[in-house]
Amino acid sequence: MKKTINNQSSIISDISNLLHDVDILKYDETFINKSIQNRITETKSKSEEEYFAILKQNKKEVAKFLNSLHNNYSEFFRNQLTFSVLEQIIIPSLILKKKESKNKEIRIWSAACAAGQEAYSIAMLFEEYNANNNEKVKYRIFATDQCEKQLTQARMGKFDVSEINNLNFKRVKQWFTKHGDAYFVKPILKKNIDITEFDLFNEKYSCPPVSIFGDFDIVLCANLLFYFKPEYRKRILNKTSNCLSNGGYIITGETEREILMNFNLKEVYSQSAIFKK
Ligand SMILES: C[S@@+](CC[C@H](N)C(=O)[O-])C[C@H]1O[C@@H](n2cnc3c(N)ncnc32)[C@H](O)[C@@H]1O
Repeated sequence: MKKTINNQSSIISDISNLLHDVDILKYDETFINKSIQNRITETKSKSEEEYFAILKQNKKEVAKFLNSLHNNYSEFFRNQLTFSVLEQIIIPSLILKKKESKNKEIRIWSAACAAGQEAYSIAMLFEEYNANNNEKVKYRIFATDQCEKQLTQARMGKFDVSEINNLNFKRVKQWFTKHGDAYFVKPILKKNIDITEFDLFNEKYSCPPVSIFGDFDIVLCANLLFYFKPEYRKRILNKTSNCLSNGGYIITGETEREILMNFNLKEVYSQSAIFKK
């Protein structure tokens, strides 16, 4: 029997009341309804009322429901165009700019880093630059996420073959060591990355405390905004864009470009998903 959710906002508010210490109302309504629909199917509930009764009685289902709201999917070099523009244009221009300034270090914040794929991709670009140039560039990447499980994997730098399969053979060989079925990122990629927990809705800190003062040349805020309601997207964009240095870049996911355009940020190259204030 096909299960339908007749009164979607009512089940959302029922669940919100039940799980009052978790702010589920911050999530985009279409996304949260999809998650509820999936849990209804998974638990073979015949109606939303039946699913809600299960949720009330079963802590494991509460955990599964909350887990369904956390999408941690990521990839190395996830948006190829973005990373090509970074490699060919943005990073070389930042290096040039830094040569002329007192502060030589390029500072990057990967603001929802998942298991570190984004941060390690950027580190590869800098290490590849350094391998090909006599004058070495200094860089530091602050990789943060709210999910400790993801951060543990990021710190280990351990990936299975399905997680690295969009990297070319040269990069896999150059930047990973294989142990059994697992691929570990080489220590050289880890040495300039700080991996710490940071919730973007945290009201106490304007930037990750580990970075002390923010002032980032690049902030990556990708594939996370569309899960939230507009006012929460705005809060994330306020926080991340306020941490940018003068002339710094903010990068988003390819399906989130419009959100940044509506936030009055300017895309520096068409379709690149790389923006400036
Ligand atoms: C779909 S992944 C995207 C990962 C990566 N940025 C990318 O583009 O491939 C979304 C990540 O956002 C993180 N996240 C969700 N809400 C967050 C918050 N309030 N603060 C920090 N990270 C958050 C999740 O834990 C998850 O790792």
